[in-house]
Amino acid sequence: MGTVLDRVNACAAYLREKVKLRPRTAVVLGSGLGAFAEKVEQAVSVEYREIPGFPVSTVQGHRGRFVFGLVGREPVAVMQGRVHFYEGYSMEEVVLPLRVLHALGAQRVLLTNAAGGMGEGLCPGDLMLLTDHIASFVPSPLLGPNEEALGPRFPDLSQVYSPRLRELAQRAAKELGLPLKQGVYLQTTGPNYETPAEVRLYRALGADAVGMSTACEAVCARHMGMEVCGISCITNLAAGIGKTPLSHKEVQETADRVGAQFQQLLETLLKSLPALFE
Ligand code: HPA
Repeated sequence: MGTVLDRVNACAAYLREKVKLRPRTAVVLGSGLGAFAEKVEQAVSVEYREIPGFPVSTVQGHRGRFVFGLVGREPVAVMQGRVHFYEGYSMEEVVLPLRVLHALGAQRVLLTNAAGGMGEGLCPGDLMLLTDHIASFVPSPLLGPNEEALGPRFPDLSQVYSPRLRELAQRAAKELGLPLKQGVYLQTTGPNYETPAEVRLYRALGADAVGMSTACEAVCARHMGMEVCGISCITNLAAGIGKTPLSHKEVQETADRVGAQFQQLLETLLKSLPALFE
């Protein structure tokens, strides 16, 4: 197939045929959050594997489908499952879904993930609003020829995570009586967890949480001028900070334990979005 743009346009054209709703906000669900898709009203779902040229996840516990519909009055496209760089996909493929959703009309994206905590006072089960990220340990999703139709060659990243969306997220958390921490997320390639020495390095660089997704998606979204909000579920203490070895089981158990709260936060935040446009 031709350029990235051809592939994006082909996927978008397929979805436009299948789904009437035009999403304004995209939501990417991380581990443990899959059930959020059930909160979408007038839902129409499309499996990733039926979309020609669309990357499909191999990770256990990640479903692979879009759910289009309404949360309150906000038209959304929810991604139940995402693909990761560690699965062997190129960064270009990892961020393709974001480009497709932008082509369908999404102007902002809520990115969620599970992450290991290393910041002062971060505990398993905490929710952390991203204030910024460190993506220096993964390739940029923007490597290669630039598609001017998507965004500029050298995009500014001085404010990746939208202050007004952060404000709305804090307001939603307050309304629900949920504590919402804040911090810097660092993306690694995975799939192995970090060594304690790497965690000390990342901490020294200013990271509060570490995970294997999100920052690349945020870069791609900002390239296109989308507004970005990121929230991590701290599922475990990063390696060497806690006493026990890390496991995917622990990550899933914590994500499931706080899944209901995380879902409530997303729902309240999404329902507050239409007010931005009135
Ligand atoms: N490291 C990297 N990714 C993760 C972690 C971690 O400790 N926890 C959940 N995702």
